[in-house]
Amino acid sequence: MKLTVVGGGSTYTPELVDGFARLRDTLPVEELVLVDPAADRLELVGGLARRIFAKQGHDGRIVTTSDLEAAVDGADAVLLQLRVGGQAAREQDETWPLECGCVGQETTGAGGLAKALRTVPVVLDIAERVRRANPDAWIVDFTNPVGIVTRALLQAGHRAVGLCNVAIGLQRKFAALLGVAPADVHLDHVGLNHLTWETGVRLGGPEGEDVLPRLLTEHGDAVAADLRLPRPLLDRLGVVPSYYLRYYYAHDEVVDELRTKPSRAAEVAEMERRLLRMYGDPALDEKPALLAKRGGAYYSEAAVDLAAALLGGAGSPYQVVNTRNRGTLPFLPDDAVIEVPAAVGAKGAVPLPVPAVDPLYAGLMASVTAYEDLALQAALRGGRERVFRALLAHPLVGQYAYAEQLTDRLIAHNREHLAWA
Ligand code: G6P
Ligand code: MN
Repeated sequence: MKLTVVGGGSTYTPELVDGFARLRDTLPVEELVLVDPAADRLELVGGLARRIFAKQGHDGRIVTTSDLEAAVDGADAVLLQLRVGGQAAREQDETWPLECGCVGQETTGAGGLAKALRTVPVVLDIAERVRRANPDAWIVDFTNPVGIVTRALLQAGHRAVGLCNVAIGLQRKFAALLGVAPADVHLDHVGLNHLTWETGVRLGGPEGEDVLPRLLTEHGDAVAADLRLPRPLLDRLGVVPSYYLRYYYAHDEVVDELRTKPSRAAEVAEMERRLLRMYGDPALDEKPALLAKRGGAYYSEAAVDLAAALLGGAGSPYQVVNTRNRGTLPFLPDDAVIEVPAAVGAKGAVPLPVPAVDPLYAGLMASVTAYEDLALQAALRGGRERVFRALLAHPLVGQYAYAEQLTDRLIAHNREHLAWA
């Protein structure tokens, strides 16, 4: 089996490689190709990747290259984890929206729109080359904003599934709190990427006993502290929102906070410098502890599970993925991309039925879906007015004066990445 990682020079890659090594019975990778335009990073990351495989006795071959065509040729699955413009562009996304009193975040709000506009054309170009090389290859998209990027891929007819680690992270956390194995925890996870709620926590499988009320009674403080939301709010909702919902439920509080501290991009850039220095040390043969300070915990486990299921091997029968709605949430269009548990196999992902969604959450899902649709139009066709429409539709923007100002800033800060600007 040949697996290709686009953005393989990312400092995240050792997380992934560690997963491929540990979980080789689930996903037997014979050839792992790391492809990246940044040759210097690729060399450092590739060196560590080879040492991780060697240490764990994995005899798979690791190839590093900057040649995308060669990298995807004959690949069974292609994982996308790229970041157009790097942490520097992310830093901008996290900063200029704050000038208008809006949250500065890489996937949520105006910053997320900027990222979508930079990313969608690049990802579609890569996907086209993947399809030409091997029409049967699966594309697993971890590139943010995952909801919009996956929608773009599916709309262009690609064999793609979107992946995020929020659900697997919560599954692991809840399992630890409940004292059970992670595989025994099934989440009733519903929403859009980075806009999800856990409405049930079941033991043993999708039909198992729902222990969410017990989890909240016994461990509500721990869960609330983790999300940085007030415990009474969780008790009143009776569900667990993802930490991305804090950007909505505590928007102004977050804006005040963000204004007083360095951006996450700056923090990550500093971490990346340290990580790359470590990766260059020939004595290092495992993923360093520092990597756990990044947001991608359990990403490798989720990716292995998903790739294994898509390629017809092992892998959990039900996985939380980003895929087409197709009537699962009746209040959203069929072609919207939602993030829910799905049965995953060689033919792709089929969402499990979802119980009726409380209007308290359904309303936000519907408006963000409309925003994502408009964001995709703007990413595909460009133009100031399309950017404005997407921002005006976003529930965190809404007012025309803000939408105007944000549109100007978005375009000014991203001109070099936008063909039409
Ligand atoms: C989580 C999200 C990812 C996001 C990451 C950011 O893993 O699910 O979509 O890219 O956090 O982590 P970072 O360490 O870059 O802030
Ligand atoms: Mn994510």
